[in-house]
Formats: sequence, C-alpha cells, structure tokens
Amino acid sequence: MFKSVVLAVLGVGVVAAAGFGLYAYRSPIEAMQPADRPAFDAATIEKGRILASAGYCAECHTAAGGKAYAGNFPIASPFGTIYGSNLTPDPETGIGLWSPEAFRRAMHEGVDREGARLFPAIPFDHFTKMTDADVDAVYAYIMSEVEPVRQATLEPTIPFPLNLRFLQAGWGLLFVDYGRYQDDPSKSAEWNRGAYLVEGVAHCGACHTPRNALGAEKRAEQYGGAVVDSWTAPALTAANPSGVPWTQAEFARYLVTGAGTFHGVAAGPMGPVVHGGIAELPESDIAAIATYLGDIVGAPEADAQQSPVVLASIAAGKPDPAYRQALGERLYVSACASCHYSVPENGVTAARPDLGINSATREADPSNLIHVILDGVAVKEGSGGVVMPAYREALSDSQIAAIAEYLRASRTGLPAWENLDQRVADLRAHVGTH
Ligand code: HEC
Ligand code: HEC
Ligand code: HEC
Repeated sequence: MFKSVVLAVLGVGVVAAAGFGLYAYRSPIEAMQPADRPAFDAATIEKGRILASAGYCAECHTAAGGKAYAGNFPIASPFGTIYGSNLTPDPETGIGLWSPEAFRRAMHEGVDREGARLFPAIPFDHFTKMTDADVDAVYAYIMSEVEPVRQATLEPTIPFPLNLRFLQAGWGLLFVDYGRYQDDPSKSAEWNRGAYLVEGVAHCGACHTPRNALGAEKRAEQYGGAVVDSWTAPALTAANPSGVPWTQAEFARYLVTGAGTFHGVAAGPMGPVVHGGIAELPESDIAAIATYLGDIVGAPEADAQQSPVVLASIAAGKPDPAYRQALGERLYVSACASCHYSVPENGVTAARPDLGINSATREADPSNLIHVILDGVAVKEGSGGVVMPAYREALSDSQIAAIAEYLRASRTGLPAWENLDQRVADLRAHVGTH
C-alpha cells in the first residue's frame, strides 16, 4: 500500500518531468549568414543605438578594458558568476549567425539561437515587454555598428545541477510575465510611454524592486527598493523615505540633470543610468518616465521650498552665535582635518601645513585664509605638484567663516576676526587673477 503510493508519486514525478522537458524544449533557429541579413535604414539603426543605450546593453556585455560588446563582463549572483555574452556580430563567438527571429526570441523568452535557456542575468523578464520593432532596431544597430570581435564567452561558474540550462525554464514559468507591454487604457499616452520604457528596455525594477530567494523580482513589491552592489536603490513608491515626497517635476529634474533639489545626486550604480543609459532618449521620453513615476508616488506638486521638513532643515543649519565655534570645529574635522592633522611624533610638515602656525591663520586680516579655502592651492602654486581642494562650491559663506573663526580661536589666542561672514561674501564675489 505504502509502496504503491510512493510509486504513484514517483510516476507523477516522471510524467511531470517529461511534461516539463517538453515545455522546456526549444528548437534551434537556423543560422543566418551575414550576407542574408535584411538591409537596415539609418533611422532604424539610430533608434536601435538609443534603445541599446537605454537598456545598458554595453554595460553588461563589455569587460573592463575590453572591446565594446565583446562579452565576459562578470555578473555575480548568489549561485555563481555569469558572464555577459559576446554580443558582437562575430559569426563564431558572437551573434553573427543570429537571425532577427533568434535575437527576438532571446530578448522576449530568454532562449539562445541553439535553443538553450539563458540565465536571467540578462533581464529578459523586462525585455519581453519590448515591441518587436524596438527589438529589431537594437538588432539592426548591433549588426551594423558594432565591430565583430572574436572572443569566446566564459562559462558560468554556477555549480551542477543549477548550471543545467533547461532548469531555467522553470524559473521563467514561475516568475516571468512573458509578453509585450499592454497599454493601460485608463492612463494617458505619455504615462503608457513612460511605463513601457521603465518596465521594458530601461528595466528600472531590476535594481529598484526587491528579489526573492531565487533571484526573481517580487511583483507585489514593485519598485519597493532593494540593495544593489552594497548600495541601496531607494523605493520609487510612496514608501520612499525622503522628507520631501518625490513629484513628477523632481523626477524629471533628477533624471535629466543627475541631481534633484530635494533629494541629492545620482551616485554609484545610478550614475551610469542617468549620464549614460537614458541620457540618449529624447526629452519627451524622459518626461514620460517622470510622468509614470510621479503617478506611482502619487504626491501632488507643491512648493517644496516651503515644506516643513525643508524649513526645519534650513533652521537647524542656521549659524547661531552660541554654537558657531562648535560648528566650525565640526566642519573643520570633516572638511580639513584629514589633511591638516599633525601627529606629535612626526612634528609639522611643509606639504601639509599645520594651521595653528600657518601665516594665513595668524595675520591680522583673514583674507589669505579665506582665499585658500575658497579656491584651494593649485598645482603650480605652493610647493609644486601638491594640491589642496577648493571649497567654493562645497561650503557656504557662513560655513567658511565658522571654520576661520574656530581656527583663529582654538589655535592662536589672537584677537578674533571681525565681520567674517561679510569678508567671505566679498572675497567670493571678487574676481581677480589671484
Ligand atoms: C544586467 C546585465 C545585462 C544587461 C543590462 C543586458 N544583458 Fe544581455 N546578457 C547578460 C548575460 C549575463 C548574458 C548571458 C546569460 C547566460 O549565459 O545565460 C546575456 C545574454 C544575452 C544574449 C544571448 C547571447 C548568446 O550568445 O547567447 C543576448 C542576445 C543579449 N544578452 C542581448 C542584450 C541586449 C540587446 C541588451 C540591451 C537591450 C542586453 N542584453 C542587456 C547580461 C545583460
Ligand atoms: C544598476 C542599478 C540601477 C538601475 C538600473 C536603476 N537605478 Fe535608480 N538608483 C540606483 C541606486 C543604487 C540609487 C541610489 C543612488 C544614490 O543614492 O546616489 C538609485 C537612485 C534612484 C533615484 C533617487 C531615489 C532617491 O530617493 O534618492 C531615482 C528617482 C531613480 N534611481 C530612478 C531610476 C529609474 C527611473 C531607473 C530606470 C530608468 C533607474 N533608477 C534604474 C540603482 C539603479
Ligand atoms: C586633500 C587634502 C587637503 C584638504 C582636505 C585641505 N587641505 Fe589645506 N592644504 C593641503 C595641502 C597639500 C596644502 C599645501 C599646498 C602646498 O604646499 O602647495 C594645503 C595648504 C593649506 C593652507 C596654507 C596656505 C598658505 O598660503 O600657506 C591653508 C591655510 C589650508 N590649507 C587650509 C585648509 C582648510 C581650512 C581646509 C578645510 C576647509 C583645508 N585646508 C583642507 C591639503 C588639504
């Protein structure tokens, strides 16, 4: 009795495995010789170049110091390293024998020309949303503009049995919502254009949506924020922790310039997205992305300069005579001490002046100190070849004044400088040759 149950279960298992095998199987697509490729017009190639940029294809398909698109860029996963393939039109080691149909299948289904499953390190769970026309344009660009390079792609280091490519079909079955982007008729054309780009080629969710234990994006937490390469890709939803909610206008500013007034700059992994990736898209497309994201966050446009968080933050930083010196010390420690700190055993050195004995701190007039803080010491000044950074853009007048006041009081015992804020403002405005 017990045995037959086990057998029956095994039987179901075998049938399921056979069914899965049938499901997982994809036939090879016939090789297409370069001479048989369709002809591409210039407009299609240019469109493909822009889309390839917005999909960061080159980022994952180019090794550090390697030829463009020649592959072997390592992508670490919890299961092992997978290498971006050679995507150049080289017939032997690249995709030179791929027909448009084979390329479309890879982008839409994650299956290579020979029928093998690709690891989802290529974000085909997003590319599946791209229209055939857009995928064909990327193909046209790669086949006509990318230089063929002969270089074999390294095998993934994923251990057996996880390295069996047909198993990836199960991953796809569980986690991929196959199929082209479907317009939401209740939204505007601009909104849908933004959603199409964000969910498809630009695959913003690949970094901004948290993943499950098998590395798939959690659909219920779309854009909920995730960790990427030890950086946090913040939530792009109402869960974003900013004190000032993101709005359509702030998204647009950030995505065009790389800096939002109320949220900071696009650093780390977000830098190449703004300055490389989507920078090639026409302005109307960036505006569409901002429209879509603005709707997800759902915050109305408001005068953020007057928001309570902004006012409180400005008030907190306001120079108050009672703690002005403490402020100066804090700024000095963060902006200057890493270079101007002397240890007793070594005495003082010329190349990193000790500011308690430096002339600039001891003169009756603070001009020299202020000048040096504003504009630094260039290579051809001072001790030659040694530089000190300029703080003109980084520190406000009152911050520079606070540092000067602190140095004067803590290091010299000389009378305090008068009117420091005004002196800094005057010297900042002064345009001279030195
Ligand atoms: C986040 C990294 C990443 C990005 C971005 C990316 N790819 Fe890939 N791609 C990969 C990896 C890794 C593989 C190899 C997967 C494997 O070995 O199963 C791959 C494989 C492919 C393949 C299959 C090639 C072959 O020989 O089997 C094609 C085609 C492809 N990518 C096209 C693109 C295009 C076009 C873009 C841009 C629109 C793109 N990829 C963006 C990581 C990426
Ligand atoms: C390769 C991973 C990656 C991709 C792809 C990516 N992002 Fe980001 N994003 C990040 C990281 C990391 C940060 C945090 C950067 C920082 O703090 O300077 C970030 C920050 C942001 C921010 C600022 C959030 C805040 O609260 O400060 C916005 C807005 C944003 N991304 C939108 C997008 C959009 C839109 C896309 C797709 C077009 C996208 N990101 C694609 C990784 C990514
Ligand atoms: C990255 C290192 C670095 C930082 C940070 C730095 N300095 Fe300097 N600073 C130098 C170096 C190096 C010199 C000497 C340049 C030379 O010899 O040509 C110097 C020189 C000076 C001098 C001497 C100028 C003169 O005419 O004799 C003053 C004053 C000074 N720094 C003040 C500051 C203050 C105040 C800050 C913080 C706001 C600061 N520095 C931050 C590296 C630094």
